[in-house]
Amino acid sequence: NDGALWGARFATGPSPELATLSRSTHFDWALALYDIAGSHAHAKALAAAGYLTSDEESAMHAGLDELARGITDGTLQPDPADEDVHGALEQALIRAVGSEVGGKLRAGRSRNDQIATLVRMYLLDHSRTIARDILRLIDAIVAQAEAHPDAIMPGRTHLQHAQPILLAHHLQAHGWPLVRDLERLRDWTARAAVSPYGGGALAGSTLGLDPQLIAAELGLDRPAENSLDGTSARDVVAEFAYIAAQIGIDLSRFAEDVILWNTREFAFVTLDDGYSTGSSIMPQKKNPDIAELARGKAGRLVGNLAGLLTTLKGLPIAYNRDLQEDKEPAFDSVSTLEIVLPAFAGMIATMRLDTARMAELAPQGFSLATDVAEWLVRRGIPFRDAHEISGQLVRRCESEGIELDEVTDAMLADVSPHLTPAVREVLTIEGSVASRDGVGGTAPVRVAEQRAELIARSQAA
Ligand code: ARG
Repeated sequence: NDGALWGARFATGPSPELATLSRSTHFDWALALYDIAGSHAHAKALAAAGYLTSDEESAMHAGLDELARGITDGTLQPDPADEDVHGALEQALIRAVGSEVGGKLRAGRSRNDQIATLVRMYLLDHSRTIARDILRLIDAIVAQAEAHPDAIMPGRTHLQHAQPILLAHHLQAHGWPLVRDLERLRDWTARAAVSPYGGGALAGSTLGLDPQLIAAELGLDRPAENSLDGTSARDVVAEFAYIAAQIGIDLSRFAEDVILWNTREFAFVTLDDGYSTGSSIMPQKKNPDIAELARGKAGRLVGNLAGLLTTLKGLPIAYNRDLQEDKEPAFDSVSTLEIVLPAFAGMIATMRLDTARMAELAPQGFSLATDVAEWLVRRGIPFRDAHEISGQLVRRCESEGIELDEVTDAMLADVSPHLTPAVREVLTIEGSVASRDGVGGTAPVRVAEQRAELIARSQAA
């Protein structure tokens, strides 16, 4: 078992089956540069505590720099015999600087405190990329809302026509969950930026190394308070996976709108050719695959979270090898979002919205009936009666085969003496949306205010 991180107490090397099961370099190599950063910091702590001369420390840093170059340009790769990224890099360091110096690096640290720290560093870095990508999507939503500030569309509940709303209001409703996702990532960062380094395998080290120095070198806020917790807790990874899953769900809800709006029946949206796909058999087809893939990948993100939580459930305190299973789902959630978000933002930024079509459908399905009832309430009619009168008017229109805005004065009077021709002031979609001017409502002035707030909150997160 030459070059492995353990083996002296074993009479034989690992069986090939064990080696195959145990090996993690095919995924944990993604942590190689973080491992190097951890080693630089650890070398400083060793030197500060008197375990490395300044020449040894310099040699160590130079060797680690050489490894980092090899990792970056791809010339340094793990060997099939390496169990994990930590062992592979120790071997490479020893090849670079000799075992006299290279063999000193491992003092006072364990792969357990290393891996717990490195996975946090990886997720913190990628959370910044993901936040930037979310911000771009919010920008695309805001730009579409700004391009159509007064367009009116049918608002739906239960997918049935309910009340007319502003298109911008609907688009911005997809912006707010994304703002909360940004805020979740920001709040998570405070818990993630903690360094388990120095916790050793579980109980800390006898060597008097300064964990504060290592945390600061790695750009983390402070060392973990408890070495057992630091090396074994993965709630920070699970919380990240939850946020990733929530982002996936928020994209999926938005995707569902795009898919529906892109149908011939809705015909609210035309997707840009660069952001749609064709069919191998049907020459005319133009499909919303970005939206469908976003919707599909939400399942994968939820699965990563569920798998991770299931792995963590029931693990006894301190490191257990099960914890190696946190990496693949967490890395997959990262790469999934890093692929989906830019495509989704591009689709939203380039889609063309058919506002004439939306306006035509907005008053249909008697969507102004609530406006009639509230108009009556403003004239002193109890809402119970107003609801009744408006409902009778809908029934009358239905039997005449007309919409509410097509009703005659005679029909109005016939339904109720309270329904004077003045009711027509709310029988337009413009009058309807303008009158919903409470906080958070669909009146153009409120939606514009809300947009300014959405931009401010997304930039503050
Ligand atoms: N590869 C392990 C992980 O990802 C870290 C190494 C700890 N291994 C051990 N036998 N203590 O969690």
